[in-house]
Amino acid sequence: MEKKFKRTTVTAALPYANGPVHIGHMAGVYVPADIYARYLRLKKQEVIFIGGSDEHGVPITIRARKEGVTPQDVVDRYHSLIKKSFEDFGISFDIYSRTTSDIHHKFAADFFRKLYEEGKLIEKTTQQYYDEEAKQFLADRYITGECPHCHNQGAYGDQCEKCGRDLSPTELINPKSTISGSAPVLKDTKNWYLPLNQYQDWLKEWILEGHKEWRSNVYGQCKSWLSMDLQPRAMTRDLDWGIPVPVEGAEGKVLYVWFDAPIGYISNTKELCDKEPEKWGSWEKWWQDEDTRLVHFIGKDNIVFHCIIFPIMMKAHGKYIMPDNVPSNEFLNLENDKISTSRNWAVWLNEYLEEFPGKQDVLRYVLTANAPETKDNNFTWKDYQERNNNELVAVYGNFVNRALQLTKKYWNGVVPACGEMTDYDKQTLQEFADVKAKVEELLDGFKFRDAQKEAMNLARIGNKYIADCEPWKVWKTDPKRVETILNISLQLTANLAIAFEPFLPFSSAKLRKMLNMESFEWEQLGRTDLLAAGHQLAEPELLFEKIEDSVIEAQVQKLLDTKKANEQAQWKPAAIKDTVSFEDFQKLDIRVGLVKACQPVPKSKKLLQFTIDDGTGTDRTICSGIAAFYEKPEELVGRRILFVANFATRKMMGIDSQGMILSAVDSDESLSVVTTSKDVKPGSQVS
Ligand code: 2FM
Ligand code: ZN
Repeated sequence: MEKKFKRTTVTAALPYANGPVHIGHMAGVYVPADIYARYLRLKKQEVIFIGGSDEHGVPITIRARKEGVTPQDVVDRYHSLIKKSFEDFGISFDIYSRTTSDIHHKFAADFFRKLYEEGKLIEKTTQQYYDEEAKQFLADRYITGECPHCHNQGAYGDQCEKCGRDLSPTELINPKSTISGSAPVLKDTKNWYLPLNQYQDWLKEWILEGHKEWRSNVYGQCKSWLSMDLQPRAMTRDLDWGIPVPVEGAEGKVLYVWFDAPIGYISNTKELCDKEPEKWGSWEKWWQDEDTRLVHFIGKDNIVFHCIIFPIMMKAHGKYIMPDNVPSNEFLNLENDKISTSRNWAVWLNEYLEEFPGKQDVLRYVLTANAPETKDNNFTWKDYQERNNNELVAVYGNFVNRALQLTKKYWNGVVPACGEMTDYDKQTLQEFADVKAKVEELLDGFKFRDAQKEAMNLARIGNKYIADCEPWKVWKTDPKRVETILNISLQLTANLAIAFEPFLPFSSAKLRKMLNMESFEWEQLGRTDLLAAGHQLAEPELLFEKIEDSVIEAQVQKLLDTKKANEQAQWKPAAIKDTVSFEDFQKLDIRVGLVKACQPVPKSKKLLQFTIDDGTGTDRTICSGIAAFYEKPEELVGRRILFVANFATRKMMGIDSQGMILSAVDSDESLSVVTTSKDVKPGSQVS
């Protein structure tokens, strides 16, 4: 039998504070977590929603070093930016704190110390690369060298980005420290390991037997991990950024970022409970009481940490509850390409809000409609526009606007009484009476896309109802009937405000304002007495507005510009060809030609036909495949170009082409005809 819990602790993965958040983070973790937390709150359940920034780890130190600032500067900057983005998008954390806080440092150190003192950790000495000039051990990312597989010279100590293979630093050929540039040496170092292997049987029982209901992607990943022998994993690192390891003989070492980050959920809970104990009670209630249900929202790259390592840490500690579910999403791509911070291939939340002020809910809606719940999914600006225009505007907004405008027109914005109902009225009411159970079942099962679809269906029912009833026609003959139609439409509108509340909180607030209702309760969903007859509505406004093509085209162009800039940044000149002798070079007769005419070759997309004065007194015809790069080929007339005069004549589209025109290939593969810097005589040789 399913266990009944008294309360729920909802966590959302702590983002690294080394960059802003983008739509991938939102779709994968924060929007679904927020929908869920809002839903439970609306149902008046006891819930706490925990977030915060993950401020330790090597990538933060690398960024700081690159920028010439301290890691603290980096995390201060991004913590504020990320926190603000979440607030702007209505991610309703009860606390959003950070892992550099004193509370967290102390809490995580105490957690580690307890495991250490109880002998739950293994001490192990291994050899690791050490930079003798910088006098420090090197994290894997601080070592580069030649990949043993593909011989890429710039492979990292943990991975080769060219062939994608995972590496260990000792596999690199000619390793170098990225800090000093010197060759690192191997040196003994002591670290503390969590013996994951000792918990394998328990994990198999708890997850594989006990949680078959978890999403198949999560369950599958756990199963695959648990089918191999788990190995002890180091929980400390030789690094100077992080939480100092609180045991003797551990100077210069910090806790592994994946040890301290999940503890951040707990320490942030403690921070909140200490601040407002009357409201939240003790932090232990949220983490150590068997009546509390723990749910972690994460992305798929975090599954092993939340389903295997963190549970083992909590189990080893002894007092903690285990997660009841870990609804992990897959990844969201952007315009069919993987979202990437380093390639700037992303839609950043802070930029989105500058360019689409007030449109938080549009993005929330699209990200949920396209949520990568069971497989990777794709965000495109075209789809964003279509969902806005065809669903939010044309279905939800349109229905609400009709109901409110008609009430304003016929009843001065006062809710009319519901008279006698037709069978069709009753059938419509029945349809939306069912919606509560449907949405609840889907939300309880973490099926956010489908749940939002159900809410939108409610608006579709409303649109159909008004279109079928045609109150504007009935008004002339039977105004009493119009009262009933409008009453039903308004009740449906109020239902929409409730049903969409977890998904689109800004729009629900706006709609409540128009309905002149301070609040609704989730329990009221499906009811038809939400607005009393005689209740005065406020002035109607448009709930959503159409997004024009030009706005979308500008966003697509922005991405195309990014792609181009990336290509250019990555461009390297082609490798130099094999050496040729002077004699070989002299075999080519390259000359200057004056362009007398230049036009596209009929029926060819590629070819331009040049008529060239080559100094012989007889015009020369040459065809060249550069039409795509010259919109107005006639502009080349009068230019002095270079051509190979002794190139064998070739037939091209029926034309004898007597030579080859020299063009330079640019970084974007476009071609540009080579010209002379002075007006030399046509026929001059190039040497
Ligand atoms: O993958 C990430 O972005 C990590 N910073 C997530 C940490 S989740 C938790 F453990 F804090
Ligand atoms: Zn490689």
